[in-house]
Amino acid sequence: MPSSAQIRESFLNFFRENGHTLVSSSPLVPQNDPSLLFTNAGMVQFKKVFLGQEVRDYKRAVTSQKCLRVGGKHNDLENVGRTARHHTFFEMLGNFSFGDYFKEDAIRLAWQFLTAELGLSPEKLYITIYQDDDEAMKLWLKIAGVSENRIFRLGEKDNFWSMGDTGPCGPCSEILYDQGEGMSCGPECGIGVCDCDRYLEIWNLVFMQFDRDDQGNLNPLPRPSIDTGMGLERVSAVCQNVFSNYDTDIFRTFIDFMADMAKVSYGDNEESDVALRVIADHARAAAFMIADGILP
Ligand code: ALA
Repeated sequence: MPSSAQIRESFLNFFRENGHTLVSSSPLVPQNDPSLLFTNAGMVQFKKVFLGQEVRDYKRAVTSQKCLRVGGKHNDLENVGRTARHHTFFEMLGNFSFGDYFKEDAIRLAWQFLTAELGLSPEKLYITIYQDDDEAMKLWLKIAGVSENRIFRLGEKDNFWSMGDTGPCGPCSEILYDQGEGMSCGPECGIGVCDCDRYLEIWNLVFMQFDRDDQGNLNPLPRPSIDTGMGLERVSAVCQNVFSNYDTDIFRTFIDFMADMAKVSYGDNEESDVALRVIADHARAAAFMIADGILP
């Protein structure tokens, strides 16, 4: 079973071998960007590159980005500890194209990484696309060979990604992993219907095409680009055959240590389990925030 460190390494290596430049994570406090309090996605450090206001000496990049989602447009705070998949702080694995490849290669690379590198079974994977994105539909059918009934067309809430109220945005396509009927929330459970942990979103491929201005207008970007994000904690859970991020190697030792100190046993009582998960999440977030110079 791969450790989360091995998964991170294999992601970064796979994209390096495919012509991407490895770029370090940027700090949790965005540099020169008053529109965001904290870095909430891998693309934040590349915002000006997407907008055509900055040129780098590479057109493809790969990162493992430190992210915090505790306010603003992307806020997971209230879900932390209560679901198996939300955090304040998490690591986002992402590959980026700045006017280089677009939808076809983004889909091909993602599918190849999940099925060939990580060895996930294609039978467990489902796809969502933006409602009128026929091109993405065609590409998924062609590249991944999945049947059409495994591809779901969803609306703006699920399949149109924006960084914040303004800035780069575009339609997106998500790859979901079916954790099995045991994780289902009941007879109504389904993709685009409920929000339970059965169909776990593991990777979001954003087809960056627009810059939303403060009037809400979508202005085309100079070059269509790619921004993807896969939560390291989620993909680790899938690869380590556990149903919760909190049962991965990232969290479990820490939770067991705290349970021991508190003289409770993890998994026996929902109330103390939630508390242990919240403490584990928040302690990790606080440590990374302090390391990046954010003081209470
Ligand atoms: N920026 C995209 C996201 O955060 C990949 O989901």
